[in-house]
Amino acid sequence: MQVGIPRERASGERRVAATPDTIGDMVGWEWTVAVEAGAGAAAGFTDAAYREAGATVVEGDVTASADLVLRVGPPTVGEIQRLSGGTAIAGFLDPFVDADLVRALADGQITALAVEAVPRTTLAQAMDALSSQANLAGYAAVLMGAEHSPKALPMMVTAAGTIRPTKALILGVGVAGLQAIATAKRLGAIVHAYDIRPETAEQVESLGGKFVAAPTTEADEGGYAKEVGQDVQAQQFAALAPYVAEADLIVTTAQIPGRPAPRLINAEMVATMHAGSVIVDMAAGTGGNVEGSVPDETVTIDGVTIFGPTNLASQVATDASRMYARNLIALIERLHDAETGGLNVDLDDEIIGGTTVTHAGDVTHPRCRRLLGIEEPA
Ligand SMILES: NC(=O)c1ccc[n+]([C@@H]2O[C@H](COP(=O)([O-])OP(=O)(O)OC[C@H]3O[C@@H](n4cnc5c(N)ncnc54)[C@H](O)[C@@H]3O)[C@@H](O)[C@H]2O)c1
Repeated sequence: MQVGIPRERASGERRVAATPDTIGDMVGWEWTVAVEAGAGAAAGFTDAAYREAGATVVEGDVTASADLVLRVGPPTVGEIQRLSGGTAIAGFLDPFVDADLVRALADGQITALAVEAVPRTTLAQAMDALSSQANLAGYAAVLMGAEHSPKALPMMVTAAGTIRPTKALILGVGVAGLQAIATAKRLGAIVHAYDIRPETAEQVESLGGKFVAAPTTEADEGGYAKEVGQDVQAQQFAALAPYVAEADLIVTTAQIPGRPAPRLINAEMVATMHAGSVIVDMAAGTGGNVEGSVPDETVTIDGVTIFGPTNLASQVATDASRMYARNLIALIERLHDAETGGLNVDLDDEIIGGTTVTHAGDVTHPRCRRLLGIEEPA
């Protein structure tokens, strides 16, 4: 098996899909690993460290001759067309949104493993890259807000007077929101939080936050929040408005898989905030929880700064890469056939079947089939 680790080229991407540690695992399986020169530089992994771990470091393309390509972000259609038929690729492939990419992967006879599709089950926890990256993104969101806030976060009693603690509001208490609460608490803020799933109230309290009493609804069978109607949204606005008006720092993380992000803060609510307050809208890339947020831009409205970062995990690229590379190795280990030394793509396996979006010329994942308008077999 020949594995290729390309340098990520997307703007702002600092992560890498393999670390010297995970190269060691693959070399241990007697695989040959080629890392593109500089692939780990922005994450703090040098070419020398990759060499020491047993990889070869190559100037230029490492994917054309690879049997397996490990990446962070999706390849371009041009990059897919350079792969040989039968190559496997694993990474964030945007498979439920980018129909052209899925078509190119199927046309190229690529076995595509999309980490977005890894089942959110206990068995697949070690492979859950959405969670590992959301956790670090939630942490980075609070740091971003704190850095740009003109206030100190903790209470301080000094000879020059008492500094009151920052009031932080976290909306959406999934993986990112929980870490945002924990981080804001560690920095000394008073934290309020809200999620539409009722079970999160206890999780908020266990981290020392206070749950905001706003409407809650039961999650769907996959454990995800459902989209709400305008009546529930109006109740949410009314319940959240006083907390938004008081907040110094807001981090929003609410998402509904496959749907636009729910709007939780409208322009009227932003207008009630005091100058100097900061909002970090982690859902800006999928439509935004906050009216006025723009993906990867900073917007200032009457002294209120709204950030819309879409790749916060890259801010902590060393640890994000470490976690991500371990997620990929856990996934690849499940495919690794010790007898043949290659990959066994068993689509009947719950995790492999759930994660594979194209294989041997077919679009195998039902959500991708729906995206491409392909009929399900009778
Ligand atoms: N291995 C596992 O079992 C595992 C791993 C990770 C997550 N999960 C579960 O998967 C689910 C999704 O987690 P995630 O972090 O990926 O979530 P996510 O990123 O899809 O969404 C973030 C949060 O936004 C909330 N939200 C959606 N609409 C909302 C609205 N209108 N108002 C307020 N909040 C809203 C969701 O309830 C969720 O908590 C959770 O139930 C989580 O516990 C399970």
